Amino acid sequence: MDQTSIWQQILDYSHRADPYPLYAELRKTPVVRAEDGSYVVSTYREIVALLHDPRLSSDLRNLPEPGADAPTQAPEEGPSQLPPTFIEIDPPEHDRIRRLLTRNFGPPHRPGRIDSMIADMFEIVTSEIDAFAEKNRSGTSRVDIVDDFAYPFPVTVICGLLGVPREDEPRFQALSDAVVKAADPTTGGFAERRRRRAEARADLGRYFAQLLDARHGRRSDDLLSGLIGGDSAEAPMPQEEVLSNAALLLTAGHETTVNLITNGMLTLLRHPEVLDRLRGDEPDLAARVVEELLRYEPPVQFLSNTRNTVDDIEVADTTIPKGSPVTLVLAAGSRDPDFVSDPDRFDPDREHNEHLGFGGGVHYCFGAPLARPETQIALTELARRLNNPRLVADPPPYRTSPGLRGPRHLLIEIDGVN
Ligand code: HEM
Repeated sequence: MDQTSIWQQILDYSHRADPYPLYAELRKTPVVRAEDGSYVVSTYREIVALLHDPRLSSDLRNLPEPGADAPTQAPEEGPSQLPPTFIEIDPPEHDRIRRLLTRNFGPPHRPGRIDSMIADMFEIVTSEIDAFAEKNRSGTSRVDIVDDFAYPFPVTVICGLLGVPREDEPRFQALSDAVVKAADPTTGGFAERRRRRAEARADLGRYFAQLLDARHGRRSDDLLSGLIGGDSAEAPMPQEEVLSNAALLLTAGHETTVNLITNGMLTLLRHPEVLDRLRGDEPDLAARVVEELLRYEPPVQFLSNTRNTVDDIEVADTTIPKGSPVTLVLAAGSRDPDFVSDPDRFDPDREHNEHLGFGGGVHYCFGAPLARPETQIALTELARRLNNPRLVADPPPYRTSPGLRGPRHLLIEIDGVN
């Protein structure tokens, strides 16, 4: 591959519908120094080694400022005034925050929280699919799986988790969109996007502060109350930290899940035999489909602008010098033929599927126990209830972002719903 234009090629929209041939080219050189001085890593073994290497930091305060576009202030001094979230810091600080959140989030500390949300997930999905039927009860109709289904669903779920009233969802969605857009390298320079992201996160933080004020200290059973209240085992989180990390949970769990559901429906429509099997009662099939989607069409294609070396690191005969930004192309690693057989085949029956769709190491996706049932329920219900679903356009139009990748719209035709 032409090493002077790696980023140009990754950002090139013509690769969006199918970036995998480009990744196959990238894998020929497992570690490449890109034109901007950053290093791009694309093979499974090397990515896993780096995800577990403490010399690769996620602390944005260490991140070198790329070129002329460099930020003029550290992120924590930005307009947000909020402390960094735990995705952007290293152990031991990272571990303290993650531990406090885990206590309030799910198993083993709160086994009931996610289980009780599963009934809500079914209810939300059912009412969204019922609404398709209202468009046209019997004849042929068109729906957009993104706008009419996958987009509103995870926001509603996360609002329930955090204790956000449903009527605030549109405001929430707009703020979350702004944070996600700021992560898209095609929407502006690095410094400008960092500033926009800090502003949007500050707005979200202000929103959560108002929500807590309005409760006048009353506690309920949601995550926000749990964090503010703390528990007997450990000191509670300072309020600023709660606001900052609540905003992270909202945004980290939103567009990712939208894209997994949408990539999932697109893949199933391209593999009608699997869609058909989902209509039956095969045990664990939905779980296996979702794991295979996380390998085959993952929403998070790469981690970029988030990792930098705090020491020299030797990997695949290359020394990545201290102070270098590193991009880990997770989606290329999950299709590495040296690690997985027949990697370009969508095969939910694979015996081993150790994909990188949720990352790895200390920052392994915190929301995985929520995202998995959300996507399983969404895809199973779509398979069971839509009559004769078919794609209107293949490939569909994609969002511009190469890192957080998925269709902008997924129009399908159906002959009513069951
Ligand atoms: C971390 C993917 C859903 C919250 C991550 C990482 C990936 C990822 C790749 C690693 C980031 C890194 O190493 O820098 C996904 C995908 C999802 C999803 C593909 C949906 C299909 C969610 C949901 C939530 C969430 C629903 C919230 C409830 C987080 C958080 C982190 C994280 C807080 C940071 C964890 C840490 O730093 O320790 N996710 N995620 N994610 N995810 Fe997810």
